[in-house]
Amino acid sequence: MSPALPPALRAALEDLAGRFPGRDLAAASRRLTEDYKAGRGSRLPSPVDVAAYATARMPATYAACASALAQARERTDAMPHTLLDIGCGPGTAAWAVTEAFPELGAVTLIDAHPGMIALGRDLARSGPPALVAADWRRGGFADVTAAADIVIASYALNEVIPAEAARTAARLYGLAGQLLVLVEPGTPNGFAGLAAARSALVSAGARIAAPCPGESTCPAIAPDWCHFSVRLPRLRAHKAAKGADVPFEDEPFSYLVVAKPGVAVTPAGARILRPPRTGKAGTDFALCTPRGALGTTVPSRDRETHRLTRRLGWGDAFPLSPEDQP
Ligand SMILES: C[S@@+](CC[C@H](N)C(=O)[O-])C[C@H]1O[C@@H](n2cnc3c(N)ncnc32)[C@H](O)[C@@H]1O
Repeated sequence: MSPALPPALRAALEDLAGRFPGRDLAAASRRLTEDYKAGRGSRLPSPVDVAAYATARMPATYAACASALAQARERTDAMPHTLLDIGCGPGTAAWAVTEAFPELGAVTLIDAHPGMIALGRDLARSGPPALVAADWRRGGFADVTAAADIVIASYALNEVIPAEAARTAARLYGLAGQLLVLVEPGTPNGFAGLAAARSALVSAGARIAAPCPGESTCPAIAPDWCHFSVRLPRLRAHKAAKGADVPFEDEPFSYLVVAKPGVAVTPAGARILRPPRTGKAGTDFALCTPRGALGTTVPSRDRETHRLTRRLGWGDAFPLSPEDQP
């Protein structure tokens, strides 16, 4: 699944950016970055702040969702027809789910921020039929009761207090018929919420479809944290707001794809935790395996394994089965 925005959403965002003076959008974008770095969440008091969120952050959170959903497709046999996007903001994750699962019918989006909902509705007019007909509701994590085949929360779980992350995830898992997908910033804090959620869900009998190679104890111990990175093209409006020349950006993210009983799961034998390092003797991989985190080197002279692994990167599944791993 491509990390680039669907053309209709890209066009709608460029159009949105054109409705505000560039200077105001750039100032709002800076406020957003400061709030994000200070862990203050999405306050977004005015329409220009909401527009700045959409133009500056939606492409990156979309790309992170697309990466997680590609794993949901690859690692499970789920066939969701209904979606709940909670903490939906302008509907970013719902756009990604409709790309990943085009057979999706009913879509429900819930957020506490009325400005986000208004913008999301507006953007969704140019989307696929399921988004055009979507049900947008104002509400919160605490009182959500809308069940769906797939429940997704993108960059939102970290906005509830950390102590609540596990309980909130357990509630969302209860609402999911097939899959729960959680996507968070690839920061120590973003990962901490997911790690707490993962422990609670595994204790409740959930299967982890990705990125983990199963349900064994997570080997990431602070200051280490499990995260990945996706490269995406920048919008023209985003380049202008950031004063950036580079046509792409790299978004760090952490995620969990959780399956309900009845959904078949094929977890990766192992997951590549960092960019592989290639030297003369071979390529070093840092792996998460069912037996914990470990490093392995594929010697260049091992032609067959080298052929199987030479194109693999950070976040990919490592093709060797657990028995073949060192
Ligand atoms: C960083 S934005 C993410 C938006 C969108 N999911 C995305 O990926 O682009 C976080 C969203 O969570 C919403 N939010 C924060 N706390 C919430 C709560 N307790 N209940 C519902 N929504 C909440 C905010 O209003 C905001 O729209």
